Amino acid sequence: MDWTETTRRSFLKQMGAAGAMALAAGSAEAMGRQSDQTQGGAQETPGEIAADQKQAATRDQRMKWWHEAKFGMFVHWGLYSVIGQHEWAKEEEGIPIPQYEILAKNFKPKPNAARDWARLAKAAGQRYMVMTTKHHEGFCNFDTKLTNYNAVQQGPGRDLVREYVEAARAEGLHVGFYYSLMDWHHPDGAKCKTDEAARRRFVDYTHGLIRELMTNYGKIDVLWYDVDWPLTPEGWESEKMNQMVFELQPEIIVNNRNGLQGDFSTPEQHIQASEVGRAWETCMTLNDSWGFNRYDDAWKTPKTIVDNLATVARGGGNYLLNIGPEPDGSVPPASVEILEKVGAWLAVNGDSFYGTERGKLSTTANANFTRRGNTLYVHQHFWPGHTPAAEWLSFYQPESVIAIGGLKPKVLSAKLLKTGEAVKFTQDEFAFRLTGLPIDPPDSPVSVIEVECDSEPVVDHEAMRSLWPRYKVGISI
Ligand code: GLC
Repeated sequence: MDWTETTRRSFLKQMGAAGAMALAAGSAEAMGRQSDQTQGGAQETPGEIAADQKQAATRDQRMKWWHEAKFGMFVHWGLYSVIGQHEWAKEEEGIPIPQYEILAKNFKPKPNAARDWARLAKAAGQRYMVMTTKHHEGFCNFDTKLTNYNAVQQGPGRDLVREYVEAARAEGLHVGFYYSLMDWHHPDGAKCKTDEAARRRFVDYTHGLIRELMTNYGKIDVLWYDVDWPLTPEGWESEKMNQMVFELQPEIIVNNRNGLQGDFSTPEQHIQASEVGRAWETCMTLNDSWGFNRYDDAWKTPKTIVDNLATVARGGGNYLLNIGPEPDGSVPPASVEILEKVGAWLAVNGDSFYGTERGKLSTTANANFTRRGNTLYVHQHFWPGHTPAAEWLSFYQPESVIAIGGLKPKVLSAKLLKTGEAVKFTQDEFAFRLTGLPIDPPDSPVSVIEVECDSEPVVDHEAMRSLWPRYKVGISI
């Protein structure tokens, strides 16, 4: 869920006066700063500066696998799944803590449900996973000495995070932990904003839980913090938090939602590339909810997901796509169906996605583009199909033609990625045209044509405008 004004307002209403005062004070940090956080801590000590520099120095190396992986599975699973009405049910439905705690006793998932998630992720072409270890509700899906509000001591009777870690590793996937700093269950979770003793207790608790997560499960590849309400990075002692994490897991990568820059930005529910040189990952739901939501039927189509993959790749980013398993751990059938279709497409067209690089490629209404080196991938999501001209004019062949205006470099060759079949083309100063293509789209949901160029492909319709005779005066129209 995005932190829209409506969400913030209803959240505040339910958090009561303390939260309202925080927002009135205009503190951005009062409400989950979630998208593209860039703010760093105010006064860094020399030790902290050294730690930052060390993280920056090792960043490329630590992130190499992640840039290559490009596509991950997010998993939101917890007590909210038992309700089945979105992971914000506790707040949005005003459920009192004693009532909510009853869910913990009744959360009884089937053993090793995570194996199915990991198999599905693999089949979908996803190469890493990130699971909620503790969401805003405060329930720990893992074994901890710091609270009995955890999966081992409550309904499940076992460590769900351990099952997940083992399942992901068994499929050769990298392992990530989501962790919400905001906590609606802990008695100090809101009080810490205004009461120093409460802050001390809550920050110790938070660092303690993260320490357990970073210690008890072997090598962890990603730590995905979420919502840092109600404290500032100084209040959370986020610098110290990251230092501890890197001491325990020197090769890990961390996101930017504990108020620090971390290793990557986290645009949520939209695709937005960061500035060149800054890593980013769009996280997105398959319907409109992160947690299981029984009647949320706003499913994205496989075509939308495949197109999103191309858009993300074009901007040099990653895509973390969510499933919200049911209370017993089963994946909703609609999610399985979408992900399997995406996986089948990637199995054939993976070259146009994995290992691609950020590009200067403006899209058309009918096609998206990715590129690797001098290779352009044309992702034709709306195939041109039959042209009536083929019937009216005897010299027209029944064929599909894909035309791209403003493709800069010289094209050397082209082929259909699915079959390897060569595609004929023409090229002049205005447009590049792939010709002789079949009337029906050769692949579904998107057909990809691989185009070899003599230098880095750039698609720039605007630059082309100045070439038109009627625009010779310039590019302004
Ligand atoms: C927001 C939501 C949360 C979800 C997260 C995923 O912070 O509050 O429910 O887990 O986004 O990015």
